[in-house]
Amino acid sequence: MSEQARIARISGVLVVAENMRGARMNEIVKVGKLGLIGEVIRLQEDKAYIQVYEDTSGLFVGEPVERTGESLTVELGPGLLTQAFDGIQRPLDRIRALKGDFVERGVEVPALDREKKWDFEPTVKKGDQVRIGDILGEIQETHSIKHRVMVPPNLKGIVHLREEHWDEAFTVKEIRKGSFTVDDTVAVLTDAEGKDYEVKLAHKWPVRVPRPVRAKFPPNHPLVTGTRILDFFFPIALGGNAAIPGGFGTGKTVTEQTLAKYSLVDIVIYIGCGERGNEMTEVLVEFPELEDPYHGGALMDRTILVVNTSNMPVAAREASIYTGITLAEYYRDMGYNVLLLADSTSRWAEALREMSSRLEEMPGEEGYPTYLASKLAEFYERTGRVRALGTDERVGSVTAVGAVSPPGGDFSEPVTQSTLRVVGGFWALDTDLAHRRHFPAINWLRSYTLYYTHIEKWFLENVTPKWSELRTWASEILQKDAELQEIVLLVGPDALQDHERLTLETGKLIREGFLQQNAFHEIDASCPLPKQAGMMELIRTFYELGEQALAQGVPIEDIVSLPEIEEITRIKEVPPEEFDAKKREIEESLKQRLGLQKAAA
Ligand SMILES: Nc1ncnc2c1ncn2[C@@H]1O[C@H](COP(=O)(O)OP(=O)(O)OP(=O)(O)O)[C@@H](O)[C@H]1O
Ligand SMILES: [Mg+2]
Repeated sequence: MSEQARIARISGVLVVAENMRGARMNEIVKVGKLGLIGEVIRLQEDKAYIQVYEDTSGLFVGEPVERTGESLTVELGPGLLTQAFDGIQRPLDRIRALKGDFVERGVEVPALDREKKWDFEPTVKKGDQVRIGDILGEIQETHSIKHRVMVPPNLKGIVHLREEHWDEAFTVKEIRKGSFTVDDTVAVLTDAEGKDYEVKLAHKWPVRVPRPVRAKFPPNHPLVTGTRILDFFFPIALGGNAAIPGGFGTGKTVTEQTLAKYSLVDIVIYIGCGERGNEMTEVLVEFPELEDPYHGGALMDRTILVVNTSNMPVAAREASIYTGITLAEYYRDMGYNVLLLADSTSRWAEALREMSSRLEEMPGEEGYPTYLASKLAEFYERTGRVRALGTDERVGSVTAVGAVSPPGGDFSEPVTQSTLRVVGGFWALDTDLAHRRHFPAINWLRSYTLYYTHIEKWFLENVTPKWSELRTWASEILQKDAELQEIVLLVGPDALQDHERLTLETGKLIREGFLQQNAFHEIDASCPLPKQAGMMELIRTFYELGEQALAQGVPIEDIVSLPEIEEITRIKEVPPEEFDAKKREIEESLKQRLGLQKAAA
């Protein structure tokens, strides 16, 4: 008999176990007498290096290590929505109910409620042919979301994930209608060789393996956020990804939560990797209070939180990113648009750094492991707008937006740099803007999107044919505005010519009237796309009428002191349904006051 596997060394959350021959990379093990959950992250001869997802204090060298043969998996099935999980998918609510206010070590609480019964409505019948990914039936999971129970991609095991298997036909041998728990079998499928497979309401999936899809589509639909600077200037695609880098207190969390609330998506997965203890408590308290602006009821009805409380060690943070994106892929496979928000990926990268240093790996820049960039790339590559497996033409998407918190707001550090190389949208938060209380403090000169050429057509066809020309015009004004402000700083405002002062005034209108958007204002928190275009059109009308007035000899002082300027700045607070009338009113009054009734179009 081989010797008992046991702990040989403990270094914080890294445990080295010996007599581990035969263990696999990424195998889950139970460490010590407490049975702490850990994952094998390096194998060397008979030694396994294990990252432990729980506090390791109280472990002793010599204690046993037990292999499970399983990878780190999540459980996928009805009952995920409305929940808050820790990084390895333990439900915080039920753990708390069981064990008091913090997550006790070594507790095994299944992710999904074992008792709860779900009404399952089959959509196939006995004798039907089905394939991997096909929908077998539906469950009303929450008031806004139908859960689609699919033939899982790993029906025949995880080794089966190859394209040639997507067309394999199974016959529905049994399909049950009624009320079931996640452990109940709702269907039995038979393959060509006559072998039977049971399908339950829930199945397990290894978090480090992307769930397979039929095809990825080009990124030609936008993620509509309701935040003007994002939709109008730096939109990303559904299935795309973006980073929000920003120093301390610049608005990462507010931006992520605004995206969670107002983005036009079906499902939101929010990964909180907090550093400060109360930050995550805030998430756990605040999210359940948010209302769903589109379906009524609670936003949690279509949200899952993956939250690392401060008493969980770094390794769980590392896992939370994978747990989150696997949950996102699952709802994508049902045909939903899913938005994954991570706040902040820097905390995740720090977890990688800590593990890497304990493994005594060769450090890269600023001590981060050399594989930081490829890990980030792997994560963001799991996003996309896809055709799901299955016979029907089901389309779903996972869009990811990750906050990055560079120390001192310095974007040259490795996590920001590695992230910007893989993401398509870069929404740069700016400490100066935040200090001036210009919110969202997204710097319009440093931010960018790589998606615009792909999604431009959508805006032209679905919002207004003027979308692009307004955007180009406004970008040019903002560029000139920045240049002119520098001149003013150097030589004072008197050096400017009249049309330059008009440009400055217009730039100010764009900054204060359009870019500034109060996330906590009842109406302004979210701005529909037609209103965004209308607002910019109004600002351009001001500029054009100003130019005409200047040409006709109206003094610039008269133009920049027009009372309509204040009205344009405040039109964001006008409800969308009253917007057009208000816009016309302001336009008319501008023309009259500048004596341009006839000249203007
Ligand atoms: N869009 C916005 N509208 C109004 N206020 C905002 C907006 N964005 C940020 N703020 C203000 O800035 C404050 C700090 O924002 P937030 O907590 O999101 O920063 P953070 O970057 O997440 O900070 P930390 O680095 O501490 O995590 C908010 O409490 C809020 O007062
Ligand atoms: Mg924050």
